[in-house]
Amino acid sequence: MNSSSLIAPLIRRATFFPLLTTTTSPLKRQFHYTYPAMTEKLKPAARVSGNRQDVWSIINSAAAASPIQPIINMGQGFFGYNPPKFILDAAKNSLDRVECNQYSPTKGRPRLLKALASAYSPHWGRPLNPETEITVTTGANEGMLSAFMAFIEPGDEVIVFEPFFDQYISNIQMPGGKIVYVPMHPPEEGKNKTLSAGEWKIDFDQLRKAITPRTKMLVLNTPHNPVGKVYSKEELQKIAELCLEHKIIILSDEVYDRLYYVPFTRIATLSPEVEKITLTVGSAGKNFYATGWRVGWLIGPPELIQYVSAAHTRICYSSVSPLQEACAIGFEQADQENFWQETINDMAAKMSKFNAIWDELGIPYSQPEGGYFVMANFNKVEMPKDYPFPEHVKNRARDFKLAWFLIQELGVAAIPPSEFYTDENAYIVEDYLRFAVCKPDEVLEDAKERLRGLKKYLRED
Ligand SMILES: Cc1ncc(COP(=O)(O)O)c(C=O)c1O
Repeated sequence: MNSSSLIAPLIRRATFFPLLTTTTSPLKRQFHYTYPAMTEKLKPAARVSGNRQDVWSIINSAAAASPIQPIINMGQGFFGYNPPKFILDAAKNSLDRVECNQYSPTKGRPRLLKALASAYSPHWGRPLNPETEITVTTGANEGMLSAFMAFIEPGDEVIVFEPFFDQYISNIQMPGGKIVYVPMHPPEEGKNKTLSAGEWKIDFDQLRKAITPRTKMLVLNTPHNPVGKVYSKEELQKIAELCLEHKIIILSDEVYDRLYYVPFTRIATLSPEVEKITLTVGSAGKNFYATGWRVGWLIGPPELIQYVSAAHTRICYSSVSPLQEACAIGFEQADQENFWQETINDMAAKMSKFNAIWDELGIPYSQPEGGYFVMANFNKVEMPKDYPFPEHVKNRARDFKLAWFLIQELGVAAIPPSEFYTDENAYIVEDYLRFAVCKPDEVLEDAKERLRGLKKYLRED
């Protein structure tokens, strides 16, 4: 019997029973008592029923309400163009192969594991074992959920730097982990002048104080979303030393590892000791401009990887077969296609093309060292005092109002980064907005044209 034939009678009963509550047959009496209890049971779990609107639905409702249509969406980090032909062809050809349309091994398809091992071994400076040191996941996100599910017991603490990628939070809370936040701070002068994103810093004293005997993991993200910072080798060394001293597992989210404009160090490669406590996360979605493919992986020592893999097996068994095969071919051919270098060149060109608007307007921004986001500082933008913000925006930090205003007045969507800070620390980024530049050049030009409309709202200093 399939699941819909099991569910259909239940639905019929559920809709029919409320009509019977005034009658007295035993079945009906029983329902009379159980119906309110059933309603109680239908209540969702707290982990999915928070009542604060998330940033994505606020931005989408703002976009729908804007008189300027269509909106230019510079908010969400999806690509506005396709993966290159050699990768698309690989995906199409994989669909024609019988074995590519069936379950893959839970740890990933051997061809992809081998391709990942070949691609990453040079960075590790030794051959990686595809069978024991890599596991394929359904996107980086499910990979990180698997890592938290593998190592976090209720009450264990996980250190997360703010701003954070929002999925970390629920992924840590699901196994009962407690998040301990450590904020990154933009440079004070970032209000007035454009500085490198590398100037956003964590306070190492604060990090040290955040560590307790229950600290089990620390989440690092480099190159960073949304800041665009690439952590320096010295910063990584300090973080690694603390983690070694306190026996903390490092989860290093490196999904933008092919997009760096300054030297990029992978924390796992600092020393064999650091490698032993580090899980490195990658994403084919980010690497190959295919965020919808949902292929990711973790690299780490066998003692850690085996448990991530065990959790992944329980969560979704295995990941999308034909697209794993396509990613394998992508990695096999990337060097001969000069794809990685072109990726950097193309995105760096988009960055400078788009950021020219801030130079033109005199709006400072954090010059990205990696990734495809740029944070612009809107301190100089003055919105009309009596501007009619809706209730759910009024009570959020200024960056939410800026984002709303930009959508309504100019038709450009950006993301308010205080969503990626706790309420207590939201003030740190209240003047910033995040823009994603992974869009076609024409879209970047159109966005720039609309952003010229900011001129009349700029405060003269
Ligand atoms: C920092 C960071 N980590 C992880 C992810 C998720 O990657 P994936 O799409 O492979 O799950 C994203 C996506 O935006 C991200 O920005």
